[in-house]
This record gives sequence, structure tokens and C-alpha cells, in this order.
Amino acid sequence: MLTGGGDAPGLNAAIRAVVLRASALGHEVLGITDGWAGLLGEHAPSPLTPRHVAGILGEGGTMLGTSRTDPRKDEASRRAVIESVRRNDIDALVAIGGNDTLSVADWLHQQSVKVVGVPKTVDNDLAETEFCIGFDTAVSVLSEALDRLRTTASAHHRVVVVEAMGRDTGWVAAFGGLAGGADLILVPEISVTIGDVIRTMKRRRESGVPDILVVISEAAEIDGLEAQTAIDRDAFGHVRLDQRAIGAVLARHIEQRTGIEARQVVLGHLQRGGSPTSIDRLRATRFGNAAVDLVESGRSGVLPVQRAGHIEVAAIADAVREIRRLSDEYIELVRRFAGVLD
Ligand code: F6P
Repeated sequence: MLTGGGDAPGLNAAIRAVVLRASALGHEVLGITDGWAGLLGEHAPSPLTPRHVAGILGEGGTMLGTSRTDPRKDEASRRAVIESVRRNDIDALVAIGGNDTLSVADWLHQQSVKVVGVPKTVDNDLAETEFCIGFDTAVSVLSEALDRLRTTASAHHRVVVVEAMGRDTGWVAAFGGLAGGADLILVPEISVTIGDVIRTMKRRRESGVPDILVVISEAAEIDGLEAQTAIDRDAFGHVRLDQRAIGAVLARHIEQRTGIEARQVVLGHLQRGGSPTSIDRLRATRFGNAAVDLVESGRSGVLPVQRAGHIEVAAIADAVREIRRLSDEYIELVRRFAGVLD
């Protein structure tokens, strides 16, 4: 078993579920450290028993470590990873991750390695599943931050712009923003211009609202507003969205164009750190349990997903085929409760 990509609260709960369920069925579980990197180095995977996972259910991070490593990057790595699976006598791999980690899992499945996935990403943008491990905690962090920011924004009659995670989509910004009562939520799925935003700020201020909370997804584009140029990319070629600093650029712009004092907060990795919510612990336990059942029944190239609250099975290839955008229902809710004003 390995955990790959960005960490997410609930990874340890999933690791625990896999170990407990697999051990109960009489399997030996090996923990691979630091994602796919752990299959490329010399370091041999080490056994994980119920004793090793005692007490980790509520802990953030991942006891296995993680990394953004793509073993498909060159022929030598491709050969090394498959060779490592054989050398370590691995009958089946459980890969816990998001789009990047699971695309590697799907590739390994095509190379005849048995792989079962587990959906994890705070961004919640994997196709085929309603929810991924880590999302609920990220949403809670954002909504709690908004509760705190509301009081200070109100005391100073300020605009506070909060930048939320979400590489391509606005799931965290929309759920957390709605739960925390944000006045304006800006997500990649809804196009707005900087003129729309400025008009909304002025209209709110004119209508007597003293404080304004704006949530902006790190990937949001605002027509007419230029974010900073992101320079660095990770191993999977994704640009470093934190370098866009879209929240800071927007706050400065609002202050300059409206005269209302504005501040900005980047929640960043606070959304991924710390203890998982009970919902994430339960999701992780259900997914981990189902993943072992899939291994037990000899399946490969699949992962457990949640649909209408039930655990079902999907092909990993379908889950990673495209990014799952914010649903129409939430786009409409954002428009109605935290959209730009006419
Ligand atoms: O993919 C999850 C995610 O948290 C994104 O929301 C964010 O853009 C990115 O990872 C940050 O990655 P890193 O931890 O490498 O800075």
C-alpha cells in the first residue's frame, strides 16, 4: 500500500482500515514509503500490522509519507517500478491518491500489475465519486476560518479575501464558502470580470454591509485581472498555483478601485493539515474496507467510489479520465447566495 500526491486528512484512517481488514482476512500488508518514490529506491517496503496502525485513526498526514513522483517519466523508472513490485512479491497494490497517483495506478494495471485505488484529494475533483478523502476536512477548515475572519472584518469594516485550495475546480471554495457564509465566492466554473467584482463590493457597501468576505479558489480566473506568473511546476507538470497569488492580487485591486480597506488570507496547507473530521474518518474507513474486498475478489484497475451515499466500484481509468467540475446544483447555489450582483 502507498499514499501518493498531496497529503490529505484521513489518509491514516484509510491505511488503518486497509491493514485491519486485510490482516483479518489473513493477508500480509506492506507499507511503501513516500508514494511511487518508495518503489523506485533501494528501501524495501516494511510490514504493517494492526499494532502499527493503532491510534492513527484521527491523525493528519500519512504514516507512510508521500511524494509527487511519476515513475512513468523515463524507461529506467518504468522498468524499476515494475521490477520492484515483482522483487518484493507484491500480489496487489493499494494506491491511495488523487488524479496523478491513480493515473500511475492505471498504467501499472495495464502492465499487468494488480492495483486497486482509493480516492483521496482535498480538491474533490476525481470523476466517478461524489467525495474523496480529505475534502470534508478542507471544507471545515475554510468554513471555520470564515467564522473567525467575519468578526475581525466586521470590527474593521474591511473586505477580507480568502484564497482556498482547488487545482482546477471550486469544490473547496464553494462548499466551505457557502458553509461559512461568504459574501462572494469566485471559482473556475463561474466566469466573472473584475468589473463585476468591484461593482459587487460597492453595492454591498452602499447597502450598509460593513464587512465583506470573499472566497477565491486558487485556480480562479477573473477577466481583466492578471494573477502573478506561476513559474515552477511539479513532477506531473502542474503549475504551482500558490505562486499565482490570485487572492493577494484581488485584495489589492479591490482596495485601489473601491477605497475599502482590504486584507487577504491564504489558507494553503492549513486545509490539508491536522486531524480529519469524523466524516473523512468514516469515508476513509469505508473506502479502505471496500478496497481490500476488491483485492480479495481478485479485481484490478478499479477503486471504490461513493455514489448517492453508497459505496460502488468504478474503473480507475474512468476516475482519472477527466477532472470533475463543480456540479450544476452548487454552481447555482453559489450564484444565488454568493454571486456577483447586477
Ligand atoms: O492537489 C491538491 C493540492 O492541495 C492542490 O489544491 C494544490 O494546488 C496543491 O495540491 C498544492 O501542492 P503542494 O503540496 O505540492 O504545494
